[in-house]
Amino acid sequence: MRNISMFFRSGIRTLIFAFFILLLSQVSANAQSAAEGAALFKQKCTSCHALNQKVVGPALKGISDRRSEEWLIKWIKNSQAMIASGDPEAVALYKEYNEAAMTAFPELSDDNIKSILAYIKEEGDKPAAAAGAAAGGGAEAKDDEISNLMVGGVIILIIIAFLVILVLNRVIGTLESLFNKKQGIKEEAAEPKASWSDRVEAFKLRFKNKKFVFFVVLLGLILLGSYASVTMWNTGVHQGYQPVQPIKFSHQLHAGVNQISCQYCHSGAFTSKNASIPSLNVCMNCHNYVQATEKYNGQISPEIAKIYKALDYNPDTKEYGDNPKPVEWIRIHNLPDLAYFNHAQHVAVAGIECQKCHGPIQNMEEVYQYAPLTMKWCINCHRETEVNHKDNGYYDKLIAAHEQLKKGEKVTAAVLGGLECGKCHY
Ligand code: HEC
Ligand code: HEC
Ligand code: HEC
Ligand code: HEC
Ligand code: HEC
Ligand code: HEC
Repeated sequence: MRNISMFFRSGIRTLIFAFFILLLSQVSANAQSAAEGAALFKQKCTSCHALNQKVVGPALKGISDRRSEEWLIKWIKNSQAMIASGDPEAVALYKEYNEAAMTAFPELSDDNIKSILAYIKEEGDKPAAAAGAAAGGGAEAKDDEISNLMVGGVIILIIIAFLVILVLNRVIGTLESLFNKKQGIKEEAAEPKASWSDRVEAFKLRFKNKKFVFFVVLLGLILLGSYASVTMWNTGVHQGYQPVQPIKFSHQLHAGVNQISCQYCHSGAFTSKNASIPSLNVCMNCHNYVQATEKYNGQISPEIAKIYKALDYNPDTKEYGDNPKPVEWIRIHNLPDLAYFNHAQHVAVAGIECQKCHGPIQNMEEVYQYAPLTMKWCINCHRETEVNHKDNGYYDKLIAAHEQLKKGEKVTAAVLGGLECGKCHY
């Protein structure tokens, strides 16, 4: 009989262990999926939706309580198809929003959408003040909260798992004695309740068991190692960084709605190493007149007034004072000094669109860092992207030099462009 119950006990222990590991991975998977959802939401939805207020579309807080998941997946993939098919909820919503069409997102998988919904739920569940602070504090604060949540969840799970083990142990004990009674087996009186010192002794004995010690050390090493490697991988990577800027300048409004070309403000990207941030004089080309007064009961927009203040400009007299101060925009993208990156080479020579590296800037209310800017990121693109060598004097020379080499002629630095003034002079 002992054998059977021993067998059960060890079986149940294994099960509990597996269950515990499963729960752990579930917690981290949830946190990860909300993080993935956050990125997708920012990329694809923030141009029209916020959580707590109506923008172009409705506020999405609590959406999973209002609609079924199945409905939401269908709607987000293609709301127009749903309206066309006559779904009553979809039609009513569409009418309520004056038939403003929501973009279709056929590229999102069910899992993508579930993670967006997970993010909306997690973010919406936060008290309003905390959510506001998180939005203000930028992505870093949000990540911190996610990891805090994770740690909290893990601790709670450990406690629950512990309680479950205790209860199961009790149940097994009771069942065993019942079973023994029925079979007429006497309780083994020779097994007195173990005293504390016995237990400590047994515990110590465990640590004499080499296999057990090996297992514990291995587990410790794996946990420590994965923690260390994740931390190291993420050091200096600021993907998602979104500081609050001194003036609420919206790319969505300027580059998106008003279709101002990137070149108008970031002309450097086409001609030099740095894309550069425009000076306030560029803003004044429009904001001399555009003051958004209709939004503020005839007053000048407080955000536009910041431009005037920085330039020491008096909008009534239209005169500039002599005490201008530059606006201190907070730099978002920043490679370490040891790496050289040149915009003109990528934008003008290779013909790569800004969005490939900076994401859908024209939809961003506030700019955030879209790409990781790690060396791996640079290298992967260099591996994949074919060079456009047509109409490019530099590659013409290379190809010519190659032909010369094939013919056995000598190739000098001059052949490779070593006589061009710009190679030696600024
Ligand atoms: C071009 C603007 C636009 C974009 C981008 C957009 N939506 Fe919408 N969304 C709307 C509008 C407008 C409505 C209201 C219904 C209508 O008019 O079609 C809506 C409605 C919804 C609804 C239904 C809300 C309710 O109260 O039932 C959900 C859910 C939703 N959107 C989710 C998303 C998600 C998730 C994304 C990003 C993947 C997204 N939307 C991107 C404009 C947009
Ligand atoms: C009307 C002027 C204007 C236009 C048009 C404009 N930008 Fe900007 N851009 C700014 C200003 C001002 C900032 C600094 C404030 C900020 O980060 O929002 C900026 C910041 C940025 C940044 C972040 C810079 C950093 O600190 O790392 C990127 C990337 C960027 N713009 C890309 C673009 C792209 C791509 C387009 C075209 C789709 C574009 N911008 C159009 C004015 C403009
Ligand atoms: C080509 C014209 C143009 C340029 C250049 C331009 N803007 Fe604008 N800006 C607009 C228009 C149009 C609006 C919308 C005004 C409205 O809502 O009535 C606007 C709105 C704004 C607003 C929002 C005002 C509010 O409170 O709603 C801010 C802030 C702003 N611009 C800042 C800037 C800054 C900073 C720059 C320079 C980096 C700049 N703009 C360059 C045309 C321009
Ligand atoms: C191949 C990727 C790539 C492309 C394409 C690209 N950028 Fe950048 N951008 C970067 C990187 C990397 C940085 C950070 C550079 C640094 O820190 O030295 C950056 C920085 C910036 C900045 C911050 C200021 C500066 O000059 O460092 C602005 C503004 C900017 N980019 C705008 C643009 C615009 C506008 C375009 C399109 C015309 C564009 N970028 C195209 C990768 C790219
Ligand atoms: C979207 C793809 C893409 C990304 C991302 C990218 N590059 Fe490039 N890069 C290119 C292409 C294409 C060329 C070749 C351009 C040409 O024809 O001269 C190039 C050329 C270069 C060159 C010149 C090489 C030479 O032989 O002259 C340097 C340096 C460079 N990239 C640095 C970087 C750095 C640093 C990063 C990351 C911060 C980066 N690139 C990210 C596509 C990319
Ligand atoms: C291989 C590199 C190289 C190339 C290519 C080159 N230069 Fe120079 N250049 C120099 C150096 C080095 C000096 C400084 C020599 C000295 O001070 O004695 C110089 C000096 C000069 C000066 C004199 C400046 C002064 O203050 O005395 C001029 C003008 C000049 N270069 C023009 C050009 C022009 C125009 C071209 C293109 C046709 C050109 N260079 C190509 C390396 C180069």
